[in-house]
Amino acid sequence: MLAAMACRRSVPPAALTLPAPSDAQLRDMLALAVRVPDHGLREPWRFVIVAGEARAELGRRLAPLYRAANPQMEPAKREKFAGIMERLFLASPMAVVVISRPDRACAIPVFEQELSAGAVCMNLMQAAHASGFGAMWVTGWAATHPEAAASIGAGEGERIAGIVHVGTAVSVPPERPRPDVAALTSFWAPPAA
Ligand SMILES: Cc1cc2nc3c(=O)[nH]c(=O)nc-3n(C[C@H](O)[C@H](O)[C@H](O)COP(=O)(O)O)c2cc1C
Repeated sequence: MLAAMACRRSVPPAALTLPAPSDAQLRDMLALAVRVPDHGLREPWRFVIVAGEARAELGRRLAPLYRAANPQMEPAKREKFAGIMERLFLASPMAVVVISRPDRACAIPVFEQELSAGAVCMNLMQAAHASGFGAMWVTGWAATHPEAAASIGAGEGERIAGIVHVGTAVSVPPERPRPDVAALTSFWAPPAA
C-alpha cells in the first residue's frame, strides 16, 4: 500500500484511454472512495458518472453555456474555449464527478463537510491507481460556473469538488518535484517568554 501511494502520479485525461473501469471495478472504487472521515456522518458528497455517449452530449450542452457566459470575449478565443468545453469529457473514457453537498442545517461546519468531499476525491484517486487505472482530479470552468456545474449535475446548495478522470494510462508523466516536508513541518512549542 505504501509503495502504491509513493508511486501514484496524476495522469492527464489526454493520456487516459479505454478500457474504462468495468461496472464492478467502478462500484469497488466508489466503495473505497467513501471510506473517509465524515464528521456527524452526514455523507456530504455524491457521485455523477460521465461515461460513454453521455460524454459528447454533456459537451454539447457545455459549449453554448460557455459562449453565453463570455459575451465580451474575443470571438476566436471564445470559440476556442467553447470547443475545449465541448470536448472536455471526451478526453478520457470516464469521469467521476464528486459533488459536495454539505448539510447547512446541521451543527457540523460546512468547511469540515467540504474537506470530507476532498477526502473522497483523493481516496478515489488512490483507489483508481491501486486498481491499475490512471486518474486526474480537475476542476476548471465547467466545475465552477454555476450553470455549467448544474448541467453536470450539481443541484441547489451543491458544488463540484472534483472531476476525476479515470481510464487506462497510455503513459504516466515523469515524477515532479515534491514539497520539502521538513520545511513545511514544525513541532509546537510554547512562545518564548
Ligand atoms: C481541487 C483541485 C482541482 C484541480 N484542478 C485542476 C485543473 O483543473 N487542471 C489541472 O491541470 N490540474 C488541476 N489540479 C491539479 C492536479 O489534480 C494534480 O494535483 C497535479 O497534476 C499534480 O499531480 P500529482 O497528483 O501527480 O502530484 C487540481 C487539483 C485539485 C486538488
